[in-house]
Amino acid sequence: MQHRIPQPPEAGLLNAVRFGTDPFRFLEGVQGRFDSITAVPIPGRAPLVVVTDPDLAHEVLSRPPEFRRVAAQGSASMIAEQGVVQSDGPLWRQQRGIMRPAFVGRQVREYANTVGHRVEELAEEWADIGADGEHRNLHAEMTTLTIRVASEILLGEDIGHDRAADFYEWMAVAGREFEFSPTTVSPAWLPTRTDPEFSEAAEGIRGLAEEIIERRRETLAAESEAEDERGGENGTESGDDTRGGSGTAGAKQPQDMLTLLLRAEDDPEVEYPPNQIRDEVATFLIAGHETTALSLSYTMSLLSWNPEVREQVREEAKQVFGVGESARTPEYDDVADLTHADRAYRESLRLYPPAWATFRQATGDVRLGEFRVEEGSAIVLPQWSIQRDRRYFENPTEFDPSRWERRSPNAVSAYFPFASGPHACIGQQFALSGATLAVSRLTRDFEVEIPEDALSDLRPTPTLRPAEGVPATIRPVE
Ligand code: HEM
Repeated sequence: MQHRIPQPPEAGLLNAVRFGTDPFRFLEGVQGRFDSITAVPIPGRAPLVVVTDPDLAHEVLSRPPEFRRVAAQGSASMIAEQGVVQSDGPLWRQQRGIMRPAFVGRQVREYANTVGHRVEELAEEWADIGADGEHRNLHAEMTTLTIRVASEILLGEDIGHDRAADFYEWMAVAGREFEFSPTTVSPAWLPTRTDPEFSEAAEGIRGLAEEIIERRRETLAAESEAEDERGGENGTESGDDTRGGSGTAGAKQPQDMLTLLLRAEDDPEVEYPPNQIRDEVATFLIAGHETTALSLSYTMSLLSWNPEVREQVREEAKQVFGVGESARTPEYDDVADLTHADRAYRESLRLYPPAWATFRQATGDVRLGEFRVEEGSAIVLPQWSIQRDRRYFENPTEFDPSRWERRSPNAVSAYFPFASGPHACIGQQFALSGATLAVSRLTRDFEVEIPEDALSDLRPTPTLRPAEGVPATIRPVE
């Protein structure tokens, strides 16, 4: 027998408006009142279904044909219509398959090592700050760090400091455009907002994606030509070792995501819709850095407010990386020894999940547990409120990394900052290893002081974003 999903007793529209204006408070409210699920009726639309039980949330995530992604629409499609983060079905399967090698094995090591180098450079720059300290926007600094690493590893080139700074501005504009508001949950006929600044930001992101693709095509063509010449001299055929390969026997094939996408163009089995590669690059320019930058800003904020934990992380970093003359650049192999930094980072992903909710849409009238979900329902799987639910976490609003000494994050279904199922985050290992190194290295040498109210105005854009960056005073540790 299938049951009707319970509804909050207040008027439907009132709840819809509450969700639109302050989704975090609304979600915390329903999390405390409904054991597994609730439906908010919305005039003129299918209801908004909020899942409050983690196991049901994972079930939704594991059934993509019935609960599909919400495709990019309106202004979102001005950045990328069909990258792997927005797509579903055969196109998504093809794209995820082509890209997978770019996110596993030695690529994780390379990503973490690149974070090690870039964070070392940042630390050298911060080392010039005097004992009085300097005010900086920590989130802008973290964005520069993560986008340069992501572009280097995924796209084969570092976009450089100035382009990274442009990106920070574009993301701030995009964040405002996509922020939740009462119109998000209004009947479809209400006009939505448009922000003229947004089209400029969208063009900037697409333009940068096109430039990067062009340069990569040229590099690959030059490499392939050089290879043909070498092959000719050695009397061997080129490209016979791997698909479209340029390899000298035994040489490592570049495995960055863009190279894999471009090589796959020659594969007769692969069919790209128009602009697919540009959409993927634009998507990854965003997905590859923003959540990680946010998570670094939140972790550093929590460490600023929790001196005991900060000291543990600092002592551990001194042991692992050394100090003074004997200090060395952080690298992938250090991650396994940074248990305090790792727990602090994972605990910050619990309290401030950069992906604060994952969204799906029911493709038909479907059964979920004992409930009937109406076709077209928008489904909210809220990391924000499930990860703060006292049914699953003791002292849920407390920053307590030691809770992960007793439990493995992978074994706790109410903890899912990277989602789960077939669409689970492809960059999870990058984020976990790179962020642990960055948090640890910066904490070793710097006091990053953040005002207590710095995270009091978080905005419900597709990611959880601080309204005005994260103000910080940075000074070297005495
Ligand atoms: C702390 C950092 C990160 C968090 C919290 C995070 C979170 C998530 C979540 C919740 C999803 C699932 C979205 C959905 O099912 O609709 C996701 C998907 C995805 N993430 Fe991440 N992510 C992070 C870092 C990264 C990085 C570093 C990359 C790339 C280098 C990345 C690339 C992606 C991609 C491509 C998808 C779509 C996967 C698919 O549909 O097959 N993410 N991420």
